[in-house]
Amino acid sequence: MSQRVVRFGLLGAGLIAPFHARAIRAAAGCELVAVADMNGERAGKIAAEFGCRACATLDDLLADKSIDVVNILTPNHLHRDAAIAAANAGRHVLTEKPPAMSLADTDAMIAAAQKAGVKLGVVLQCRVRGAIRAMREALAQERFGRVLRADAQMKWYRSTEYYRSDPWRSSRRSGAGVTIQHAFHYIDLLHYLMGPVASVRATMSNVTHPDVDLEDTLSATLGYANGAQGSVFATTALWPGCDVRIELHGENGTAVMVGERMETWKFRDERAGDEAVRNMGRGVKTAAGGPADFDFADHQTVIEGMARVVREGVDPLITAASARGTLEVALAMYQSARTDREVVLPMTDESGVWG
Ligand SMILES: NC(=O)c1ccc[n+]([C@@H]2O[C@H](COP(=O)([O-])OP(=O)(O)OC[C@H]3O[C@@H](n4cnc5c(N)ncnc54)[C@H](O)[C@@H]3O)[C@@H](O)[C@H]2O)c1
Repeated sequence: MSQRVVRFGLLGAGLIAPFHARAIRAAAGCELVAVADMNGERAGKIAAEFGCRACATLDDLLADKSIDVVNILTPNHLHRDAAIAAANAGRHVLTEKPPAMSLADTDAMIAAAQKAGVKLGVVLQCRVRGAIRAMREALAQERFGRVLRADAQMKWYRSTEYYRSDPWRSSRRSGAGVTIQHAFHYIDLLHYLMGPVASVRATMSNVTHPDVDLEDTLSATLGYANGAQGSVFATTALWPGCDVRIELHGENGTAVMVGERMETWKFRDERAGDEAVRNMGRGVKTAAGGPADFDFADHQTVIEGMARVVREGVDPLITAASARGTLEVALAMYQSARTDREVVLPMTDESGVWG
């Protein structure tokens, strides 16, 4: 039996748009119908390359009633309004990370989707890669024993030209800055693997981008609700950039993902299948040195998840509710760095995040 074609529309034709377009083209039974961008040249380029319609606004996109899913690929501070408008128009929504710039905005998006009876997914594609799935499974099977530490280290490089390439990239309130823009994926992985964070202490600095008013470096310690400790070091100041490290340590095992490779996978109880996990993710491109330098396979998995939302009524692979927890940790980092104090979660008042 042939499956129903799921039709996507993109809002935003900037840097991340080609990854979505390629992912939709590669996903079985998925079709890119239209792309909207107020920058006509950008929309036209994607439309020409991927054979879809170009338009200027979200309203233009929503006028096409055949579109099932709207992918929101606009700067971070614009996700909220677009997601709510698309949900109100009865479309499922897949928004790029972070879901929004505040917990209140994220809650408004979740509420709008619920009210409209549509689903709201978030692109946090690192969750779906093999090495992370293997870590999640081993945690669920309690192979680590008591988990002691979970750390993320992101030593990347972005040039001052990158920060100057679009106004929002150098505006903290629009969602720029290493914490909410780049490290968000890895804060998310720690949160996804370890569960709730109980406390955050962070410092932020600008090491090599003096002309840009944001943090290019984050250093944070985390206390997880399960009693383990952790840290996040993230920067875009270190040329030429190295692959990200995600490190999990328990009393009975250690797992370290570097880039997308499982560098260390060692348990006291070696099991069949462990050697295959050690060979995961070799030779896959990552985004250490520049924004376009990664593969679209993980985006494809997320897109395929949205196709199942439409066809089967399941939840998205990464729900907005689960991304909200990561946003809370990132916002707590901003608040801690600003106030020079530990922040205890859950945050009951986010008014002090930006000062
Ligand atoms: N998942 C990932 O790995 C990943 C990687 C890069 C970016 N992103 C996310 O993708 C989103 C976009 O990032 P980007 O780097 O592509 O940004 P970008 O600035 O390159 O592109 C954004 C586009 O949105 C358009 N736009 C803005 N407001 C609009 C509006 N109201 N109507 C129509 N078009 C509008 C702009 O003209 C621009 O072309 C951000 O949320 C970012 O965090 C995710």
